[in-house]
Amino acid sequence: MSTPLTSKRDSFGSKIGVIAAVSGSAIGLGNIWRFPYVTGENGGGAFLLVYLSFILLIGIPVMLSEFVIGRRSQRNTVGAFKKLAPRTPWHIVGFLGIIASFVILAFYTTVSGWTLEYLFISIKNGFSGKSEADLVTQFNTFTSSGLRPVLWQLLFMFFTAFIVFKGIKNGIEKYTKILMPILLLIIIALCIRSVTLPDAGKGLTFLFRPDFSKITGKVLLEALGQAFFSLSIGMGTLITYSSYINKKENLSTAAISISLADTLIAVLAGVAIFPAVFAFGISPNEGPSLVFITLPLIFDQMIGGYFFSLIFFILLSIAALTSTISILEVAVAYLSEELHISRKKATIAASLAISVFGIGSTMSLGSWNWLSINGLSLFDCFDKLSANILLPLGGLLIVIFVGWFLGKDQVFDEISNGGKLKARLRWVYLFIIKFIAPIAIALVFLNSIGLFL
Ligand code: TRP
Repeated sequence: MSTPLTSKRDSFGSKIGVIAAVSGSAIGLGNIWRFPYVTGENGGGAFLLVYLSFILLIGIPVMLSEFVIGRRSQRNTVGAFKKLAPRTPWHIVGFLGIIASFVILAFYTTVSGWTLEYLFISIKNGFSGKSEADLVTQFNTFTSSGLRPVLWQLLFMFFTAFIVFKGIKNGIEKYTKILMPILLLIIIALCIRSVTLPDAGKGLTFLFRPDFSKITGKVLLEALGQAFFSLSIGMGTLITYSSYINKKENLSTAAISISLADTLIAVLAGVAIFPAVFAFGISPNEGPSLVFITLPLIFDQMIGGYFFSLIFFILLSIAALTSTISILEVAVAYLSEELHISRKKATIAASLAISVFGIGSTMSLGSWNWLSINGLSLFDCFDKLSANILLPLGGLLIVIFVGWFLGKDQVFDEISNGGKLKARLRWVYLFIIKFIAPIAIALVFLNSIGLFL
């Protein structure tokens, strides 16, 4: 139904639908592309341990807090704060989210475009027999070639806009609930191939044996940023999505199961990537190209590798798509509900504006390499700015809002569905969002800019 959100709001149909839609947002390139590359750059095991602790201690509580804000207000990110905290500046948190949605989509669609190219190469069987060096050249030549990655990116943006345009309920949940489990199966197949490669043990040691001397302020910040990025939290995506959740859902169990599923996929992606990284002699801190070089090598060594690579890149593109629609929805819901622009116009306007930044991000890796700040390409800047600054900052403000402003009665009422659910861990949750999460996020920030420790 493409009913405008302003009259009768769309909502998700079923329980599994909600889990599917929110998992669809969470599971994406963040798990399969970003998690391995950031883990590789930050030393492996110790990073993983910090990452997992942040998911449990900060990620799940922030996710639940976004659910509370979204479902209680039934509004877009900006409107939600206006409704729950009228005549206060809290809605600025919502605007921060809108800015973050632009920044994230600008570089996320670059990488989504890469997945389309890699799908295209898979169809042509273009990885077979390639050495590591060939694949590095192939990746660099393609990503810096300008027009081609931009065209894939715009095509991806177009798909995203098309689905958002049709309204939230129609597509998202239907597809994710079938496709994400298949993606999981393929990743498991990749893991099996990877851990049976010669010297696979080194990769597993890298990923699972923490070397605590590697933990620095930067590692903590990167782990926090990755946790936020992967769970889609800190910018109102889940406020927007949960505004479509019906009042009977159990928000706490949803937050826990979605976070666990998301984390499982990321860790499995790590198990698929790192043994192969070591087996093929790739450097774990290769950066954003890591998985695009490693995965083709694994497929090449697999029985049925052609089909696996085909299905994998199809599913990865779809996983990316279910994430990009959730990000675009933030801006579109805001424009249509708050500024009363039609859903159609809002989608077109937001997509065009994002594409301008997106083209800058993609081109900054090629001939527009003057688009850089301090030696970091615009692409890298958008990546770091969103994950390491905007999302944790948004998350900090969100837990402070729910813990200190909304307060105990409203929070308990919302997570217990007006007293119908027991919500046994409610005190633990409240304690975390009032004290632990804000202090932890603040310390990680201060520490990373060298003000502490
Ligand atoms: N979590 C998604 C991924 O892992 C990306 C994403 C979707 C996202 N919505 C978001 C990241 C909101 C940050 C904020 O690929």
